Amino acid sequence: MAIADSFLQELRERLDIESVVSPYVTLKRRGRLMVGLCPFHNEKTPSFTLYPETESFFCFGCNTGGEIITFIRLIENLDFVEAVKLLAQQAGMQMPEDGYDDSLSKKRQRMLSANREAAKFFHSNLNAPLGQEALEYLENRGISKPLIKRFGLGFAPDSWDALLDHMRGRGYSASELHEANLVRKSSKSGSDHYYDSFKNRIMIPIIDLRGNVVAFGGRILGQGIPKYVNTSDTLIYKKSNVVFALNLAKNKNDGKLILTEGYMDVIALHRGGFENSVACLGTALTNEQARLLARYAKEIILAYDSDEAGQRATQKALEVLGKTGLKIRVLKLSGGKDPDEIINKYGPGRIQALLDGADNETEYRFSRARVKYDLNTPDGRLGYLNEAVKVLADLNSPVELDIYASELSKELSVAKEAILAQVKSQSGRQKYERKKQREKELYKSAKKGLTSAGRGRARLPANCEAKEIKAEEIIISILLHNPDFYRKFKDRLGAELFSDEFHKRIYSLIAERIEADKNIDLTSLSQELSNQEMTDLSSLFVKGQDLSNTLAQYGDCVSVLEKAKRDSTIIEPGKLSNEEFLKLFEKPNNE
Ligand code: CTP
Ligand code: MN
Repeated sequence: MAIADSFLQELRERLDIESVVSPYVTLKRRGRLMVGLCPFHNEKTPSFTLYPETESFFCFGCNTGGEIITFIRLIENLDFVEAVKLLAQQAGMQMPEDGYDDSLSKKRQRMLSANREAAKFFHSNLNAPLGQEALEYLENRGISKPLIKRFGLGFAPDSWDALLDHMRGRGYSASELHEANLVRKSSKSGSDHYYDSFKNRIMIPIIDLRGNVVAFGGRILGQGIPKYVNTSDTLIYKKSNVVFALNLAKNKNDGKLILTEGYMDVIALHRGGFENSVACLGTALTNEQARLLARYAKEIILAYDSDEAGQRATQKALEVLGKTGLKIRVLKLSGGKDPDEIINKYGPGRIQALLDGADNETEYRFSRARVKYDLNTPDGRLGYLNEAVKVLADLNSPVELDIYASELSKELSVAKEAILAQVKSQSGRQKYERKKQREKELYKSAKKGLTSAGRGRARLPANCEAKEIKAEEIIISILLHNPDFYRKFKDRLGAELFSDEFHKRIYSLIAERIEADKNIDLTSLSQELSNQEMTDLSSLFVKGQDLSNTLAQYGDCVSVLEKAKRDSTIIEPGKLSNEEFLKLFEKPNNE
């Protein structure tokens, strides 16, 4: 069962959103609203907006929004029940003893404590005789006791059941350990048999921002395959959402983070005094990781391996980071394959020198292009120029463009005006290509059927949203502010008229709650929705605040859906020309 509505209502009444948010965001009053720098992405001008009257927030920069519970869920990385608990404490309310389902939350807690216990076990092994070889291995790599402690490093013995036995002794069942990925299962001889996931490995705990051990990486001692064994995703760990050592680095940086590829690089960099180092652990940098970094830094210094794979990963990371608005520089590693090797060979001073000379993104892309050509030949110079122009065409800042065009002009002895002219035509071409690409995507997503427009889809570009989708949005926006409109139209408007799966779901939820005489404020709805869904819903809610909110407008939108239903056989993208098809998405004139 869920937490009682009445409890959530009381929570909502006792806590105002301003006091919940203000420890995390410096707010300034702007009329009836409050604004501040968004804690969920990096920005210079405030687009995080608080609506005290409706107890909600929305960021126009990163489109994150919700009410108090969603805010706490996001910022503290908690699940629903945990967030309510934390807020209840603030409000001085006793959580209801029973009557809510916290089994998932309990399971998470249990898994976290199992991981913590395992980390302690691994760590203590380094002080035991069986851990001596591991200790030596670490010391040979320059990792001494204080560093071992800081990272909570440990050792998994050369045994199939050392951890299993230890944990069973502490009351954890094999299946619990299996769910936590600490042990594996084989069902060969008909019955289940469990064995340790990590055997004879250096253990590196992965710790989240709240200090929980959420996963492990295990490195083999010396050579061998696989070099690392890692926890795969569990209830408490999603690899793509975690940045290694950010728990340490988040308080040790002046707005700059050094991003590396590996555990060992981070550990070596910390040893060298660069405590603002983190790693994305051998995966391509994800958008979630980039967003996380943007919460703690303004600038990212990429220090990936110097080999070809590392350089490819750098390119990829530049693309992902490019979306965050973070300042990016690329460390030019020389004299070693990764930061760990460089520190071991030359000492931390070398890293500092590299940092002082780190290329910014544009310089990095220039130098990547430069090495491909022989600049002593006209052909080579032309090839380089063409690539460099593409880089310049991506720049948004006219000042930067001017600076780099000047440099390029000097480097190649080509008139700056000529370069700028070429950049201009190139950026026109790039814009055109992007537009074509967008159209292609739009066409593709629409071909899949407008009805497949669900969460996580590639959204239709804002300027050509389907009329029906727009009508659906307005209906929900208005309904959230005017629940009584529901009954006036419920005979005409059933959930099946909605084509967007998310809208359909929200409308059903609202209908269900109103029929049961329940509230449909954001807080009450938040219990049923994920953070992403909550954000999408808040976006509609915020839009609703600016609508006229009349019954007539609501009715018009219902008519649009009715008509769409009647016409639903007309839209057959395959049969229309591309141009005709795109017309379908044009905004109606009356908006
Ligand atoms: N990695 C992995 N599994 C592997 C190899 C690598 O998960 N078989 C991940 C690890 O997170 C590792 C990162 O990719 O830290 C970078 O790989 P690599 O550069 O090979 O490892 P290092 O951390 O540099 O380790 P070492 O210096 O001990 O070789
Ligand atoms: Mn390495």
